Amino acid sequence: MSAGAATSGAASGGDEVSGALHRLGPLDQVPVGEGRSFGVDSQQIAVFRLRDGSLRAVSAVCPHRGGPIADGTIDQREVLCPLHQHAFELDTGCSTTGAPALQTYPVFVDADQNIVLQLDTDRPARSGRSALAPGSGTGP
Ligand code: FES
Repeated sequence: MSAGAATSGAASGGDEVSGALHRLGPLDQVPVGEGRSFGVDSQQIAVFRLRDGSLRAVSAVCPHRGGPIADGTIDQREVLCPLHQHAFELDTGCSTTGAPALQTYPVFVDADQNIVLQLDTDRPARSGRSALAPGSGTGP
């Protein structure tokens, strides 16, 4: 019987896992097609369960005006913030409507059907760029 943080090496899919792993509880607390918000290390993380059964994890706080991303509507690719309907790609966090990007986090289901989130303690989570913004610093 194990409790508390998951151990390294529990990931499926062959990706190398580094950083702190946090077991968030049973998979079935997140219904298919919906999201739930979790507090992890003083961060709010939204975990979504897509219709194909896969999970995505992004910051639960919308970078536009702080809307509750976990309450947003999802399809297989994007989440719509419920406040002003900015859209964000679940894989990259990039906004397709011009908002700043959400942070994304690795998340998977372990052998016991628990949701496991990886928080990299050495550096910030991946933060995509807005899909509409070409980025800065591309000058000569
Ligand atoms: S707070 Fe999310 S779109 Fe405005």
